[in-house]
Amino acid sequence: MSLLEVEDLRLTFGGVRALDGLSFTVGHGEIVSLIGPNGAGKTSAFNCVTGFYRPDSGTVRFDAVDVTGRSPAAIAQLGVSRTFQNPRLFGELSVLDNVRAGTHLWLRQRMVDVLLHTPRYHRTEQRVTDEAHMWLDFVGLRGDRAGLVRHLPYGEQRRVEIARALARRPRLLFLDEPAAGLNHGERTELVDLIRRISAQGTALALIEHDMGLVMEISQRVVVLDFGRRIADGPPAQVRSTPRVIEAYLGRDTDDSELAAARGVIRGD
Ligand SMILES: Nc1ncnc2c1ncn2[C@@H]1O[C@H](COP(=O)(O)OP(=O)(O)OP(=O)(O)O)[C@@H](O)[C@H]1O
Ligand SMILES: [Mg+2]
Repeated sequence: MSLLEVEDLRLTFGGVRALDGLSFTVGHGEIVSLIGPNGAGKTSAFNCVTGFYRPDSGTVRFDAVDVTGRSPAAIAQLGVSRTFQNPRLFGELSVLDNVRAGTHLWLRQRMVDVLLHTPRYHRTEQRVTDEAHMWLDFVGLRGDRAGLVRHLPYGEQRRVEIARALARRPRLLFLDEPAAGLNHGERTELVDLIRRISAQGTALALIEHDMGLVMEISQRVVVLDFGRRIADGPPAQVRSTPRVIEAYLGRDTDDSELAAARGVIRGD
């Protein structure tokens, strides 16, 4: 059985069908990419799985538990973490505190220890701080950790967001367009980071428009169009699927456009 099983999800906004019977899986420790044209439903799918949207119908099972319609906090508690298409950090908190807020240890502090500032509270606080530093080292954060997170450059903020998501020690991590807005060097580091996250046994699902990155890093690629899955398989197989090429270009395309699209999907 897969770690994540998404079955027949439907979601509408007014007249818009964002998801129209979407099914896909993510296996234990697997790296899966969700790709598809703008508006295909990728972020909506992430939002349904992580509890930010409640699907109209369909099922989301994480580790054989039906989590459909549960709150984001409840789903996170089971071991699912995410980042957002536009980073959502606590801008008025320091870099370090943003990651401290994500640690699984902090989530376990007992109210009585917090209120009475017991020795146990202080010990846990220290471990929370140590762990936050460890995750910031892990993602390779270069900037100042004591300063406000909103003063960091964009690429560094994206790293902090990943550090915060990792601090929860997820078994499945969702990254929504992690390469967007990164420069060439940062992108290379992202590939390395994703590999290291995977090496520690965490499964990853990513949405990404950078096809070079998708083809390089994914074990499986799921292609969405109009809220449905139109292809699913290893990168080499998916990139030669005519329906995928059509989805990216529309139906009436001449040969030179198709050749160019194949290049895009291959990540040339
Ligand atoms: N909160 C919302 N309210 C209204 N419509 C929405 C909302 N979220 C998504 N949609 C619509 O649902 C459809 C799917 O959007 P979604 O953001 O999931 O696409 P996407 O594949 O992530 O696209 P992109 O690559 O541009 O990020 C689009 O038509 C979008 O306009
Ligand atoms: Mg999106």
